[in-house]
Amino acid sequence: MPETILVTCATGNVGPHAVAELQKAGATVRALVLEDDPNIGRLPEGTEIHYGDLGDPDSLDAALDGVDGVFWMWPFFALDVTTAPAVLRKIEAHASRIAVVSSVGVHIGLEPVDNNCHAYLESIVEKTSLDWTFLRTTGFHANALGFAGQIRDGGVVHFPYGAATRTSVHEGDLAAVGTAALTQDGHAGQKYLVSGPEELSQEGQVRVIGEVIGRELGWQDIEHDDARRAMVDTGWPPSYADGALDYFAMLTKEPEVGSTVVADVTGRPARTFRQWVQERPDAFR
Ligand SMILES: NC(=O)c1ccc[n+]([C@@H]2O[C@H](COP(=O)([O-])OP(=O)(O)OC[C@H]3O[C@@H](n4cnc5c(N)ncnc54)[C@H](OP(=O)(O)O)[C@@H]3O)[C@@H](O)[C@H]2O)c1
Repeated sequence: MPETILVTCATGNVGPHAVAELQKAGATVRALVLEDDPNIGRLPEGTEIHYGDLGDPDSLDAALDGVDGVFWMWPFFALDVTTAPAVLRKIEAHASRIAVVSSVGVHIGLEPVDNNCHAYLESIVEKTSLDWTFLRTTGFHANALGFAGQIRDGGVVHFPYGAATRTSVHEGDLAAVGTAALTQDGHAGQKYLVSGPEELSQEGQVRVIGEVIGRELGWQDIEHDDARRAMVDTGWPPSYADGALDYFAMLTKEPEVGSTVVADVTGRPARTFRQWVQERPDAFR
C-alpha cells in the first residue's frame, strides 16, 4: 500500500532530498513549510505543500491528518525544543512510523539528554508507541557551503581546526536511509550511525574543492576564541558554538567515527565529498 509521509524542515539541506527519495520509493510526500518560506522552490514537483510551524503544534493538524510516517527533523537553530513533546503527541496520534534525524554526538555520548538538542528528541521518541528509527548523522557534506564565500573571495578559508577529520555524509544518502526506515520493514528500533564513506579533514575538503573547480585554495587556522566570537555574532547559540568547536578540537587528534550504514541499508555506496562537490561546482565559483 502506498505510504503518505510528512517531511519537516523540508526546505533545508536534507529536506528536499528526503522528499525526492520518498517520492522515488513511491510514497505520497507532504512537506511542512513555514509561510513565506523563500526556499520553497527547492522542493521537487509533486510535493504536497502544507504550511505549519513546529513552534505551534496546532498548526500541524492538517499536515498530519492521514499520514503513515514522519521524517522528523527539528530546526534547532531557529527553535528550541519546548514544543517538541506536543508536536510528537500529534505525530503519534496519526502516524505509525518516525525517522528522526539525530546526531553522531548522541552516538558517542557527547550530547546530554537535558541539552536542547538531538538527545532530547530521541529520549521523548523512545517513550512513544511509534516504530522509530534514529539517524545519528555525522556532519553534512553541505556544511562546506559555509566555506564558499571565502573561496570565492580570495581562496583562503580562515576557520579553526583544519586538521579536524570527519566522516561527513551526503545529505541525499542520509535521506535515503530515512526513506528506507519509513517505507520498508526491518528498521524499527535501530539507532543508525549514518556517515560518509571516508575520513577527510576540513583542510582536505578545501583541497578537494580546489581540485574540482580548478583553483589552488588555501587554509588558515584561526584561534578557537576568535572563531567562537564570529559564530556567536552570526547567530549560533553559545552552547552550540562551544560544542562544535570542542568537537573539532577533539577530531584533530582522533578522526570521527564512521559506518557502512548507507551502503548496508540502501544497497549502494555512500557518496564521497568529491562526488558532492562535482554535483555543484558553481556553488564555489
Ligand atoms: N549540519 C549538520 O552537520 C548536522 C549534523 C547532525 C544533525 N543535523 C540535524 O539535521 C537536521 C536537518 O538539518 P538541515 O541542515 O537540513 O536544516 P536547515 O538547512 O537548517 O533547515 C531548517 C529548516 O527548518 C525550517 N524551519 C525553521 N523554523 C521552523 C519552524 N518553526 N517550523 C517549521 N520549520 C522550520 C526552515 O525553514 P526556512 O528556510 O523557512 O527558515 C528550513 O526548511 C537538523 O535537525 C540538524 O540539527 C545537522
